[in-house]
Amino acid sequence: MSSELVAKPRLGVLISGRGSNLQAIIDATRDGRITGELAVVISNQANAPGLERAKKAGIDVAVLDHRRKRREEYDEELVRELKRRAVTLVCLAGFMRLLSSRFIDAFPDAILNIHPSLLPAFPGINAPYQAWEHGVKWTGVTVHLVTAELDGGPIVAQEPVPVKDDDDAETLAARILEKEHHLYPVAIQRLLSGDWMLSGRRVIPKPLREPFRP
Ligand code: GRF
Repeated sequence: MSSELVAKPRLGVLISGRGSNLQAIIDATRDGRITGELAVVISNQANAPGLERAKKAGIDVAVLDHRRKRREEYDEELVRELKRRAVTLVCLAGFMRLLSSRFIDAFPDAILNIHPSLLPAFPGINAPYQAWEHGVKWTGVTVHLVTAELDGGPIVAQEPVPVKDDDDAETLAARILEKEHHLYPVAIQRLLSGDWMLSGRRVIPKPLREPFRP
């Protein structure tokens, strides 16, 4: 069968701000490191600079304002926008909202998030600052599946980043961000490849074939 006839996985990226990870995803879909298609970028903030990056790349964008809406109501709207575009994998890239089970259940094992620490250390906001203030010698980047627990889902990929003696929180955050831009496309492609499975909390390689049973 011609590869043209095989439907490509469709990615939806949710952002709230700068969108540098979105840019890394755009670049990786362009040069083939990610084999999915970017179907839509959705922001809850109308002035998110990431929206310009998406428009410049010719990607469909939507702004869904979360204000004056109940969380479930908002999440249902998000799901509708994504399903309408046949999105199969959702990538959170600096999306500053907690997601309810309405959203999570709509995309089982198909929502990824990137977090700037080696989880489970330093969940929540300002993770590079938390790590720097704590005085750890190593921190890093985690890409994980999203569950109802904040920054707590099964880990797909992790990379360490050293903390240097002369770092401040900003220089550390910049070094972590550089690593994020490398790791997120790798983790997305791993998920798309389908060569993985969940064993409890563990994301492990899928056996190539059924074990031989005499
Ligand atoms: C990144 O550090 C990401 O890990 C975190 O939010 C930040 C988003 O940055 N979840 P950007 O908008 O992708 O530049």
